[in-house]
Amino acid sequence: MRRFLVAGNWKMHGSLEMTAELISGISRSVLEMASLSEQRELAYDILVCPPAVYLQHAVSAAQSQPVAIGAQNVNAHDSGAYTGEIALPMLAELGCDYVLLGHSERRELFLETDVQIADKFAACVAEPQRITPVLCVGETLDERKQGATEQVVGRQLDAVLNQVGIQQMKNAVIAYEPVWAIGTGETASPEQAQEVHAFIRARLAEHDAEIAASMRILYGGSVKADNAELLFAQPDIDGGLIGGAALKVESFVGICRAAQKLASQA
Ligand code: PGA
Repeated sequence: MRRFLVAGNWKMHGSLEMTAELISGISRSVLEMASLSEQRELAYDILVCPPAVYLQHAVSAAQSQPVAIGAQNVNAHDSGAYTGEIALPMLAELGCDYVLLGHSERRELFLETDVQIADKFAACVAEPQRITPVLCVGETLDERKQGATEQVVGRQLDAVLNQVGIQQMKNAVIAYEPVWAIGTGETASPEQAQEVHAFIRARLAEHDAEIAASMRILYGGSVKADNAELLFAQPDIDGGLIGGAALKVESFVGICRAAQKLASQA
């Protein structure tokens, strides 16, 4: 059984104060919600990814709380002359559990290539695995209109698969984020999202059916409290990567509520 993961990508938002308040507010609300649920415990996982400068503060705030902390980016090298960059051992030392890789904003605005993203992924999963990568993939509106969604998502996935091999993807998370749905208020319909999630899982299954079946594939792109349940109810959607709605306790917890509810029905 795959456990839902509800992940918040704060992007370049926040402050010291907000980091502590958001993490403690989310923790308090989700624990209360879980205690009132049928399972009486949190039936899904929660991740928040604040800007790098707040990671240490976030890790402290999340101590003994049901919230994992992740970074939004990392360099593929362990150390060296890479001004302005942050290395994996640094994130691991801080206590980060996850890192987002290949978010469409990194690909589009910072020109990250499939190869660079695969290098970062390889660094994350090198033995002993230090941090769980959340590999983001997704097509632009033009690519979708041209019918190239599977070609683009397949290429982004294969770049990593070909470099690290399926066994090394065992502990990763994938996030399907159609670029046209990010920050636009326009969400992929549950059917549109499910179609691509099923495609991703099938692509992985060509290499290893067991790993494909256990892979958590998140949907991202204008997920809100009022559309999360329908999206998460799809058979191949295992949670969400949330941008805008991750910046307020109520909206993020509203999305968590959908995960708790669906997990209790499973
Ligand atoms: P959004 O962002 O929820 O604001 O659309 C999602 C993301 O970029 O991960």
